[in-house]
Amino acid sequence: MVTTEVAVIGTGWCGGIRAETLAKSALVDKLHICEILPERLEEVRALTNPATATLDYQDIVANPAISVVYISTTPEQTHYPIARDCLKAGKHVLLEKPIALEFWEADELIALAKSNRVKFTIGYSQRFNPKIAYAKKSIAEGKLGNVVNVMVSRHLSRNLGKKIANRVKLSPAAMESTHDLDFVFWLLEPAKPVKVYSQGAYGYMKELNGSYDCMWSTVTMDDGTLVVVGGGWNLPPSYPNYCGTWIEITGTEGALILDDTARDHWLNTVSGGTQYPMSTMPGEHVDHVFAGQMGPETIHFLEAVLKDGPVMVEPAHARQVMEAYSAADLSADCGEPISLPLSNYSISKLADLKAAR
Ligand SMILES: NC(=O)c1ccc[n+]([C@@H]2O[C@H](COP(=O)([O-])OP(=O)(O)OC[C@H]3O[C@@H](n4cnc5c(N)ncnc54)[C@H](O)[C@@H]3O)[C@@H](O)[C@H]2O)c1
Repeated sequence: MVTTEVAVIGTGWCGGIRAETLAKSALVDKLHICEILPERLEEVRALTNPATATLDYQDIVANPAISVVYISTTPEQTHYPIARDCLKAGKHVLLEKPIALEFWEADELIALAKSNRVKFTIGYSQRFNPKIAYAKKSIAEGKLGNVVNVMVSRHLSRNLGKKIANRVKLSPAAMESTHDLDFVFWLLEPAKPVKVYSQGAYGYMKELNGSYDCMWSTVTMDDGTLVVVGGGWNLPPSYPNYCGTWIEITGTEGALILDDTARDHWLNTVSGGTQYPMSTMPGEHVDHVFAGQMGPETIHFLEAVLKDGPVMVEPAHARQVMEAYSAADLSADCGEPISLPLSNYSISKLADLKAAR
């Protein structure tokens, strides 16, 4: 049986899920983990029994036996330098979203992967949500006819919103709706986004870090399909990292409505009150099964490497998504619709916006 040596860099929430998944897989010859927080490194070492555990990611880069690397670090500024070093060293890389913070960084990573002939993908886990996969299949089979409109409304609990928005000045569009923009553009392929009009509303988060609580973006596709994506992170504290999503897709021959709010399973305890377990965006291990998308996504990438198959998310697609949420940020700031691809004028306005933040 073909197996390989793999590494996870950054074993916090998501990296911990990836490391546990890989530790259980027969496709993994040896697991290596890297984390800068010594206590967390020890916690994950105890859970996954890796061959090596290090505080310095350069140990992973320098180890020629490691062929596949999952990069799950925060803050998001770490994505580019770590991915660059791993790709340069000839490793296949799954990088959590966002692909990068600057367009030139994304372009360099894409070019490096191409020139070194290694696989490179971005962790847009929602593509492994069976409901989203069903939407893709239904549209491809023509069940809905021509898609006319897609609406996605996603809300996270404020504890997660606080965690994200405290570490990096990225908006709900960039950090949350990014998943929805990714899968909606995937559902609607080969149509491409050409215009974004977005607005944000302040509330609970403003005092904490200046961020909107919620952003709604309307995206026009080049075939006229209308996409409306809303992302918010101000739900009251609920099941750790609760996420509720509602999706409506209408077409000329049918409609598909997807309830992804996790209300179909309900835990009610005297100490904790009402909870909706298994409701986080990546999902979670439940004994012998994985409830959610990050487990299957982790194994899919490993199989793509071992079988030399296609990755699920092409990095150029992630770059297109990056343009769309950047356009949303700019649109919310200036109150105007923004055309895609971004013009040089829009890119320079975005630089001003970032500098002002
Ligand atoms: N696909 C999804 O559903 C999903 C969900 C949540 C987060 N994410 C993305 O995954 C990434 C990780 O998010 P998280 O919530 O797991 O973050 P986290 O903060 O829980 O974990 C990140 C870990 O990286 C470690 N780290 C930082 N710099 C490092 C370095 N140089 N070397 C090794 N370790 C380092 C930190 O100490 C931390 O433990 C984020 O970029 C986020 O956008 C994806």
